[in-house]
Amino acid sequence: MITHYMLSVCVFLIQCLVEGFSLPRLENVTIDSYNLHNVISWSALQPLDNTTLKYVVQYKHRDTDVWKNYKGCAPTVDTYCSFLPQHPYVNVTLRVQAQAGNQTSPWSQTQPFMGHVQSRLGHPNVTLTPVDLHSLQIEIDPDANLRKLYGDALKYRVLYGKEHEAFRTQRDLPSSVIINSLEAGVKYCFQVYYVIYPDMRLGNNASESCVTTEESEKESMFRIACLSVIVVVLSGAFISGCIFVTIQNYSRVKDALWPDLSADPWIQEHDFPKIPNDRSYNNYSEETWDRVSLIIENDNYQGEES
Ligand SMILES: *[C@@H]1O[C@H](CO)[C@@H](O)[C@H](O)[C@H]1NC(C)=O
Ligand SMILES: *[C@@H]1O[C@H](CO)[C@@H](O)[C@H](O)[C@H]1NC(C)=O
Ligand SMILES: *[C@@H]1O[C@H](CO)[C@@H](O)[C@H](O)[C@H]1NC(C)=O
Ligand SMILES: *[C@@H]1O[C@H](CO)[C@@H](O)[C@H](O)[C@H]1NC(C)=O
Ligand SMILES: *[C@@H]1O[C@H](CO)[C@@H](O)[C@H](O)[C@H]1NC(C)=O
Ligand SMILES: *[C@@H]1O[C@H](CO)[C@@H](O)[C@H](O)[C@H]1NC(C)=O
Repeated sequence: MITHYMLSVCVFLIQCLVEGFSLPRLENVTIDSYNLHNVISWSALQPLDNTTLKYVVQYKHRDTDVWKNYKGCAPTVDTYCSFLPQHPYVNVTLRVQAQAGNQTSPWSQTQPFMGHVQSRLGHPNVTLTPVDLHSLQIEIDPDANLRKLYGDALKYRVLYGKEHEAFRTQRDLPSSVIINSLEAGVKYCFQVYYVIYPDMRLGNNASESCVTTEESEKESMFRIACLSVIVVVLSGAFISGCIFVTIQNYSRVKDALWPDLSADPWIQEHDFPKIPNDRSYNNYSEETWDRVSLIIENDNYQGEES
């Protein structure tokens, strides 16, 4: 163990002497790739003095042995850099080095990387629209980068079935299409993955959505008829209930709507000679509708001499 450690130190010192490295090796050099958006990143070094640390990235294709600077990552102060191989099937290795003035670190190298194999693939955006009784349109909106880099090899694996049932049908579609032979008025659920031909590499997850196909005219007429009957029956019951309650409580309702004005102290306090005297001892139950409405409607009592 100790000899192993000492050996590493010796190798490092010899490297320093021979190659002039004076910064420590960069650690945690990793590549993260999602939908072929590739990012290489590494852990930052602590600068020893005021000189700015910059990082340089180089790449090498599998069949060539020549390292080239990756210009997209022109010496950077960040601890990550996006890189885009022109093709998802390019097998590329990268390496990164820290530079500060004329001091450099040893190169840290990644594992070989091939986007088609290593990139995680999300899922396309999907919109479902009913077209008619037995068909609906499935509109698929893929990631622009995937579409550009894969072209026609990028297809969409669509699984669907009725809600709460297993996905029965599977089809690989080249683009947005109309799906036929569905049942009318039924809710269908869809899962859509990316699938890349010819080796059928599948996306890592799917979009999930559901839609209900249109109802046939007969079914919707029947439903409307049922709803109308229910509405008519309910309103009938409600109105009869109201009438019944009103009849039962006629006098109380009348009290509430047309209170006995003679009981109002405001009226008693003032001298209203034109209000008929007999009003105060009028038997309420014998009062007629005409009389009540006459009092309410006449603001100045001028016409009421009866
Ligand atoms: C490398 O990553 C590990 C785990 O994430 C972390 O503990 C370590 O500090 C990192 N190395 C550097 C030099 O930051
Ligand atoms: C480091 O830079 C700061 C300002 O950026 C300066 O004040 C300081 O003197 C510098 N130190 C050295 C050792 O160069
Ligand atoms: C890339 O090339 C290396 C050898 O240079 C090989 O080991 C690796 O398997 C290749 N990667 C892929 C995905 O083919
Ligand atoms: C780095 O540059 C300084 C002057 O800026 C010089 O003194 C030193 O010898 C150089 N070191 C190497 C390893 O070239
Ligand atoms: C699909 O996977 C990606 C990463 O692999 C994740 O960011 C995203 O949230 C996932 N989407 C769903 C719907 O699970
Ligand atoms: C899906 O839609 C969301 C929100 O509109 C958008 O941010 C995202 O980029 C879209 N994804 C794809 C693959 O088009």
